[in-house]
Amino acid sequence: MLSLETKVLQQMIKQIGLRAFYLRLLETLTEDFSNWHHFQKCERHAMYVDNGVLELMPICNQNLYSFKYVNGHPLNPLNNKLNVVAIGMLADVHTGYPLMIAAMTVLTAIRTAAVSALSSRYLARKNAKKIAIIGCGAQSEFQILAHHALFDLNEIRHFDIDPAAMRRFENNLRHESFQLIPQQSVRDAIKGADIIVTATAARGKHKVLELDWLEPGQHICGIGGDSPGKTELDPEILRHAKVVVEYIPQSQYEGEIQNLGDEAKNYIHAEMWEMVSGIKSGRIDDQEISVFDSVGFALEDFSILRLCYEIAKELEIGQEIDLLPYSLKDCKNLYGVFLRELHE
Ligand SMILES: NC(=O)c1ccc[n+]([C@@H]2O[C@H](COP(=O)([O-])OP(=O)(O)OC[C@H]3O[C@@H](n4cnc5c(N)ncnc54)[C@H](O)[C@@H]3O)[C@@H](O)[C@H]2O)c1
Repeated sequence: MLSLETKVLQQMIKQIGLRAFYLRLLETLTEDFSNWHHFQKCERHAMYVDNGVLELMPICNQNLYSFKYVNGHPLNPLNNKLNVVAIGMLADVHTGYPLMIAAMTVLTAIRTAAVSALSSRYLARKNAKKIAIIGCGAQSEFQILAHHALFDLNEIRHFDIDPAAMRRFENNLRHESFQLIPQQSVRDAIKGADIIVTATAARGKHKVLELDWLEPGQHICGIGGDSPGKTELDPEILRHAKVVVEYIPQSQYEGEIQNLGDEAKNYIHAEMWEMVSGIKSGRIDDQEISVFDSVGFALEDFSILRLCYEIAKELEIGQEIDLLPYSLKDCKNLYGVFLRELHE
């Protein structure tokens, strides 16, 4: 079984280049979303605890199975711990044997950003140049760079209630080709933006964005509203926008649309796969306001795990680890091989 530790993933992305990796991931996501009906799907399994949530996200198609363990602990950064960490596994459906385990903290940030960019491919104005980001935490740079892989961005407008987070964001992106323009408030940040990413982390039903502040034609990727009782958008935005979600059974109680209760289905334009497959429209004019109500779905982890497995084989990187008893001569003699000696 292959193990992909964080340092192997760093090496992989260094060899391929982050932009090329994003483009390949976008292709993989497009392929998997287009094959939506080949997957056995379920909502993620979540356990809510005092300071956060612990989740398992399984999915499989005819050939591969994957799951991810991931948490969300918004107060962790106060103790210099990440809000979100993750590990994942890919297995062969035909035998049930695991093929790979992988560090997924960075992969989660990359895939979340790639899915936002995928939504923007269909829902943002084609010539989008300006992006606003609200919340400059762990996910933020990934969101910008995934969009930059698809759009020729020239202006990034960023705001965080924590000035240190804004400085870190600026420092990390200072060598990119676009201009970074720090802002004093959410309202200032979103002025003139084609795409708005909300990536804040706080328990509670917040209104980081309000309907009255928006301009015609803006596309919103709302990634921070991803748990029951944790949302970022004024629900009126959802009533006036083209809303796309990942998987309704999960999004209806974890996403922004939870705030619409029983009315939610009336306001959902599409699940992502419908738009990717061409069954439902993306943007139809320059005036439409649209929302990708992102919560994170298991298929996205499946896509990035299968891509990393493919690339690891191509580049011959990763470490073989011995977590399974491969060397049994007689597969029925598990006891004999491992425990008999204890009793001799
Ligand atoms: N949809 C998905 O698939 C997905 C995946 C990963 C993370 N997330 C969510 O994305 C959010 C961001 O994650 P992260 O890892 O970057 O968290 P983080 O804690 O590293 O960063 C969050 C930032 O938001 C800022 N912030 C909080 N309230 C704000 C406000 N009202 N206005 C401006 N800034 C504000 C904080 O100061 C912090 O810098 C979290 O809510 C997380 O749960 C979603």
